[in-house]
Amino acid sequence: AARLAGSGALAGRHAIVTSGPTHEAIDPVRYIANRSSGRQGHAIAQALAAAGARVTLVTGPVSVADPSGVSCVHVESARAMHAAVEAALPADIAVFCAAVADWHVVTSEHKIKKSGILPQFSLVENPDILSDIAHRTEGRPTLVIGFAAETEHLLDNATAKLARKGCDWIIANDVGAGSDVMGGEANEVVLVDKNGAEHWARASKTAIADRLVSRMIEVFS
Ligand code: CTP
Ligand code: CA
Repeated sequence: AARLAGSGALAGRHAIVTSGPTHEAIDPVRYIANRSSGRQGHAIAQALAAAGARVTLVTGPVSVADPSGVSCVHVESARAMHAAVEAALPADIAVFCAAVADWHVVTSEHKIKKSGILPQFSLVENPDILSDIAHRTEGRPTLVIGFAAETEHLLDNATAKLARKGCDWIIANDVGAGSDVMGGEANEVVLVDKNGAEHWARASKTAIADRLVSRMIEVFS
């Protein structure tokens, strides 16, 4: 961060970052969530701000603090995150680090009671925020970055995701059993773009964020 702090290399640029999990309500008191801590996305937002960008961080419910010098929008559901990202456009850079729930639940108005019959949940697919923004022909950010959390076939899945999502880079990481990436302090990633894959050694999430922002700066210089 010291190398980037005050560099001003991204001055005048607007970056949107999504971070954290989403919460999808089941009934007024229950929700479906995931293990994302928001650490990686928040570190990226912080590093972008240190490089001089104006940053809008759209974050799901997390226990990490809002980064300083960043405009934070707090949301719960994937649908609310989608709306907040759209409201924050236009942007030069968009980094979709959030672990967005793939489905929301058809909610019950009242708290579901134990009745002897097991409740059944109907799921509806959520909007794909990354894919929506990356496929725009008008107002698409210059650089659109997605993440891919995989538990198997990391490179194949990430390469397929790059094409399917229409983004410029995919940052892939292995979150399978034995990995401490989700919720942890460190990350080990592969950057996949149209030219191929580049493996980055395991490092702290802040170091990964700094390295990623350095790469972004190259695109804009
Ligand atoms: N993403 C998103 N909106 C969603 C789902 C995912 O913006 N509704 C973004 C994530 O923030 C991430 C990327 O898409 O940058 C990849 O998410 P991932 O869950 O790996 O991809 P999916 O397409 O949902 O595929 P799957 O979960 O089946 O692997
Ligand atoms: Ca998903």
